[in-house]
Amino acid sequence: MNVLVTGAAGFIGSHLSEALLRNSHRVIGVDNFNDFYSPALKRQNLEEIKKTAEKAGAFFQCYSGDICDADMLESLLAEHKIDVVVHLAAMAGVRPSIQNPALYERVNGLGTVILLEACRKAGIKNFIFGSSSSVYGLNTKVPFAESDPVCLPFSPYAATKRAGELTCHVYHRLYSMNIACLRFFTVYGPRQRPDLAIRKFTDLIYRGKPIPIYGDGSFKRDFTYVDDIIDGVMKSVDWCLEKTDVPKYDIFNLGESATTTVSELIELIERTSGRKAKKEFLPLEPGDVPVTFADISKSKKILGYNPQTPISRGIRRFIEWFEKSLVPTLDKTR
Ligand SMILES: NC(=O)c1ccc[n+]([C@@H]2O[C@H](COP(=O)([O-])OP(=O)(O)OC[C@H]3O[C@@H](n4cnc5c(N)ncnc54)[C@H](O)[C@@H]3O)[C@@H](O)[C@H]2O)c1
Repeated sequence: MNVLVTGAAGFIGSHLSEALLRNSHRVIGVDNFNDFYSPALKRQNLEEIKKTAEKAGAFFQCYSGDICDADMLESLLAEHKIDVVVHLAAMAGVRPSIQNPALYERVNGLGTVILLEACRKAGIKNFIFGSSSSVYGLNTKVPFAESDPVCLPFSPYAATKRAGELTCHVYHRLYSMNIACLRFFTVYGPRQRPDLAIRKFTDLIYRGKPIPIYGDGSFKRDFTYVDDIIDGVMKSVDWCLEKTDVPKYDIFNLGESATTTVSELIELIERTSGRKAKKEFLPLEPGDVPVTFADISKSKKILGYNPQTPISRGIRRFIEWFEKSLVPTLDKTR
């Protein structure tokens, strides 16, 4: 099978590309290597994917380009006969979206339309969209189910992700595309984005610098290990490709379905790394929501999704990766 992965050089995209290659699929990636975080990290991810492709004897090619570039996408889709698209390229993150809402709207909103339009023209029928738990906004009913109302997003990022889900529905209805929208809940693991809590906190602890804690540390997150997310994405690809009489569109939560407070998370990193954190309590930031918590009964039932990595084991694996890959390069003056 030929799979187009947008955002292939990123955190989740690089893990997904490797999983697909290990399963002997051909992977065509596209990424613009932007500087939201160091492009050098994305180039390193790409090198890891290439090694995996070589080991697996599977085809991998990554195009350096922007999903907003319709001509680039059309020529790429003309060159490779794509069976399924997994769309992960996006401007990610809640807080930075408040600083630069127009950029988030352009890449996540317009970029998704341009990609779907290129897929329509190329006759591609199977599409997976990387959405986010942030669409639940200030939902007070926990755990969050896919049937809960999601009309009141709390940040530009959340609004663009919900818009992406709605645009996907339009393409499903108008052009009979099979589409799965996957709501990822705070993903962590090796190669995690440097702006995300677990990596940021660990980095600061190893440098002996204070960790900024917004609020009193009681906010809860459903932290999900990246291998479990990849398993869910692979299962949603299978779901998309299963033959049915009518085209499919559905939304699935991919989370661990367990919550951890920020304070518990820091204690866990301290225990696992054997280092003490310095904490700096700061006022809450706009856009932050007090809890995320996934109801995964639908994903379990329909996709067969079954996360296997509780946070204690996931943090241990993350710290092992961090010590091996990043500690030798730590510059304590930063
Ligand atoms: N990591 C999480 O916890 C999380 C949670 C919910 C949703 N998501 C979603 O999952 C997807 C992947 O997230 P991630 O954490 O791997 O982020 P990431 O930033 O590591 O990966 C995104 C990749 O997309 C690329 N990209 C950005 N804009 C592009 C453009 N215009 N054209 C081509 N490539 C572009 C980036 O260079 C990057 O490599 C995103 O859609 C994100 O919104 C992530």
